[in-house]
Amino acid sequence: MYGAVKDQLTATLEEIRAAGLYKHERELASAQSAHVSTAAGEALNFCANNYLGLADHPDVVAAAQSALDTWGFGMASVRFICGTQTQHTALERRLSDFLGTESTILYSSCFDANGGVFEVLFGEQDAIISDELNHASIIDGIRLAKAARYRYRNADLADLRTQLVAARAADARRICIVTDGVFSMDGSYAPLVGICDLADEFEAMVLVDDSHAVGFVGDGGRGTPELFGVADRVDIVTGTLGKALGGASGGYVSSHQEVVDLLRQRSRPYLFSNSVAPAVVAGSIAALDLIAASGDARGRLRSNTRLFRSLMHEAGFALLGDDANPHPITPVMFPGEDGARLATQIADHMLGNGVYVIAFSYPVVPQGKARIRVQLSAAHSEADVRACVAAFSAARAAVT
Ligand SMILES: Cc1ncc(COP(=O)(O)O)c(C=O)c1O
Repeated sequence: MYGAVKDQLTATLEEIRAAGLYKHERELASAQSAHVSTAAGEALNFCANNYLGLADHPDVVAAAQSALDTWGFGMASVRFICGTQTQHTALERRLSDFLGTESTILYSSCFDANGGVFEVLFGEQDAIISDELNHASIIDGIRLAKAARYRYRNADLADLRTQLVAARAADARRICIVTDGVFSMDGSYAPLVGICDLADEFEAMVLVDDSHAVGFVGDGGRGTPELFGVADRVDIVTGTLGKALGGASGGYVSSHQEVVDLLRQRSRPYLFSNSVAPAVVAGSIAALDLIAASGDARGRLRSNTRLFRSLMHEAGFALLGDDANPHPITPVMFPGEDGARLATQIADHMLGNGVYVIAFSYPVVPQGKARIRVQLSAAHSEADVRACVAAFSAARAAVT
């Protein structure tokens, strides 16, 4: 009987609206790209995770189209029944070769990968120590495990040490330090060298979710372990195919052979959910081919990021992130009490002028730290980047 539930749910929706937290979805009337169509008209898109511009790349689209003919539309099976095509295992091998790991297991999403990895590897006798800013899927995945949970302040190695001491004092059998490689609201990197040093000292494993790095961070695009020179010291990498690697969907865990073998036997989102669709597998392999063959897109992404930062500094905006080693996630800060309103007004004004950016405020980010999160892409031209900065300046002049 739905009855009273309707009123209760309506009241909850009203609360969300009253708090200004209701999320409205803006429909695109085009492919995902640097230039998109919205109801407000044509817009330059600066809020996708399309870091390398592969979401509508002709080679990726052609591979997916041809896969429909060769491999069909769907798998209608989980992997271990009859849902494994030779291209699924080929993609897993390609990811292992690219990341320099022993083995890889695909999931329908990185949310599922993070949801399925902890419960299998860490039981009651174990401890998981997690950065406070880790992605929601890591938080949920850790909740599913029976291991003791510890949390450390964002990227704070002293606090991580304190938690490691506590976990060792509690006599944990296995300890795993878990971090995002890049924190997506700040565009900041996890301090992986310090984390790996502490892991050695306390005999802990390290898991890195590299969703916002794989494909474009590091000279070869192999992500934050490559950037920090610790690829052989990170035990488990999770990541997504839904951002730089073509942007469709799918995720993976890449690790030691035994870890992956056990996940294939026991990981619930892998065992009990449909295989990644054939066209997505083929498109993702084509994306990896492009990424491995050339660093051009990575170079364009880097120069767009640097250009954006330097023009925004010149224009007097406050940015988060490191100018010496910038990530394409570039938060433009609007601090203080009035910041949330200002950020929203500026983002709205910019969309009116054909530049699509998104404002974030509390509770998505801490109170008083509202921001517009700009995401650069290799698909942007220099003119696009300059147009974005000009739109920021025009919006600020119009609303302040
Ligand atoms: C750090 C991180 N991990 C995991 C995910 C989930 O990835 P997917 O979209 O493949 O489920 C995301 C996506 O937002 C993410 O940013």
